[in-house]
Amino acid sequence: MRPLSHVLVTIVLVAMTAEAAPPVRHEFGRLPDGRPVGATRLENAHGMSVTILDRGGVVQALHVPDADGRTADVVLGFDDLDAYRRAHPYVGATIGRFANRIAGARFVLEGRPWVLPPNEGAHQLHGGPEGFDQRVFEAVPSSGEEAPSVELRLTSPDGDQGFPGALELRVTFRLLADALRIDYEATSDAATLVNPTHHAYFNLAGEGDVREHELWIDAEAFTPVDAELIPTGEVRPVEGTAFDFRQPRRVGDRLGAHELRATRGYDHNYVLRGEGLRAVARLRDPESGRRLVVETDRPGLQLFTANGFDGRLLGKGGRAYGRHAGLCLETQVWPDAPNQPGFPSAVLRPGETFRSTTIFRFPSD
Ligand code: GLA
Repeated sequence: MRPLSHVLVTIVLVAMTAEAAPPVRHEFGRLPDGRPVGATRLENAHGMSVTILDRGGVVQALHVPDADGRTADVVLGFDDLDAYRRAHPYVGATIGRFANRIAGARFVLEGRPWVLPPNEGAHQLHGGPEGFDQRVFEAVPSSGEEAPSVELRLTSPDGDQGFPGALELRVTFRLLADALRIDYEATSDAATLVNPTHHAYFNLAGEGDVREHELWIDAEAFTPVDAELIPTGEVRPVEGTAFDFRQPRRVGDRLGAHELRATRGYDHNYVLRGEGLRAVARLRDPESGRRLVVETDRPGLQLFTANGFDGRLLGKGGRAYGRHAGLCLETQVWPDAPNQPGFPSAVLRPGETFRSTTIFRFPSD
């Protein structure tokens, strides 16, 4: 018989190295032409799991435990492929080439004008009428040394949605012990724009709306917009406005403020402090205690509080998504950067490799 101490040491070692299960692939649905669309489920040893669709790079489900181990699905989404193929506000999708708006659907790059197909009035939103949210990526799952992952690969040809250059994009979703990490990598054979983001709608309660969630955003300023949600070019301090989340505050506290009347809630870009990969926002559901920390290397964050949701959008399990059913924390270069001389650049040149990371962390301590 082995001494008890030996058995205990073995148990502890096994627990410490608790392997995450390998990614599991399954068919999520079929396109009208019969092509199957796959999904990858990643699971870790801490009760978290995530399901990522090849179409749209959608995070379809993200299960996260609370302090008592009770798990909830903290993202909005749909049960079947047909629902994703119908019109919806980018629910859970990977966005590209350019997140948010390009005013007048045009820009000048290295002295040459480019005209894009518009899809929101005269402007282009979230990469155009057939943005990356509607593409089928090639999925490469991996058990990984420390964390299971799936790499989604997409070739966006020269001229795709009006953008110059053939773009090779890789988006890797990795399930860490307490986080979903997203790494973007892109190259292009001509100068172009690249500004991908992820459009998950979070609701840490897994039900109801997010008005009671507490939010902190590490931003002293935001970029005000005109009636068509195009930045005016101004960078305005949040101090004394409804945009001030420098101290954690309930999302619902100021939703009725006059500054939010035109947008019927938050739909604004925050000018994030600092640079490099850093924590830029924290969200907490006081009821369950679940928390989300957003870490990114991007200079901006779009806070969007699902202002147009009116209960007609039926999500997973037939749940009607009403106003503020979730909120998006879209890490990005500031909107309309290509037309705003004072804004950070989103230009990618041939020979360069674009790399960016966003981590959605759900701390358990
Ligand atoms: C972003 C935009 C919003 C809206 C949503 C999706 O957050 O800024 O205006 O388009 O995506 O509807």
